[in-house]
Amino acid sequence: MLAAGVDPSEAARRVPVQVLAAALGAPDPVSAPVDAAALATPYATGVVGPVADADAVDRAAARRLGADPADQPRAVAVLDAQLLVQAHAATGGLVVEVLRRAAGSPGASTRQLIETVLRDAPPVRSTRRVAPLGGSARAAAEHADPAEPADRLVELRLDGPDGDATGGAPPRVLAFGAGPRRCPASEHAVAIAAAVVDVLREPAC
Ligand code: HEM
Repeated sequence: MLAAGVDPSEAARRVPVQVLAAALGAPDPVSAPVDAAALATPYATGVVGPVADADAVDRAAARRLGADPADQPRAVAVLDAQLLVQAHAATGGLVVEVLRRAAGSPGASTRQLIETVLRDAPPVRSTRRVAPLGGSARAAAEHADPAEPADRLVELRLDGPDGDATGGAPPRVLAFGAGPRRCPASEHAVAIAAAVVDVLREPAC
């Protein structure tokens, strides 16, 4: 990519999804980053844009799911596409922020820089959960307007200082979430990010 004149920060954003697509045997790995970027917002929010219009989103989905559904079981294609979409912004964001800090700390190892970014400036800053109302809140809700939803959408911050940290309990790093829905690919993501950063930090680059 660099030899072809691609800007290093653009390469940093594309490579994670491209290598993952190749490793998964997904169709056309080279177009996978563009497709993942087009699908990311509609996947997360149900809203089309801002990267692509509805037709472009449909074309990206068709490329990721394969023209011929007989090529591979549909569920596998859907899961592979979802992995690429999940990997896209978070891993690209991690690589870009680590490279930015590497420019100011040339002596720091890539591993140290990744740990610092995950602790202080994680690329995914929040996640959401639907929290069922319980106890007195549920009882109160039973007398409330029936049009009111029974559950609440809660935003959970994953960045910022850990308010529960003490001398005996070091700050927790929540960059990959926590619990049963924690990111299943944290080790893959760190390995891919470290490899991309290492190559781009080489003097020839
Ligand atoms: C190889 C790259 C990656 C892949 C394939 C990947 C895959 C996934 C998948 C499939 C989920 C959904 C889990 C679920 O809903 O049960 C997820 C969630 C998540 N990922 Fe990743 N991910 C990658 C990179 C990253 C990176 C670099 C970060 C941030 C540093 C990150 C942070 C998260 C977070 C915060 C969640 C939500 C966890 C929660 O809501 O509790 N991921 N990831």
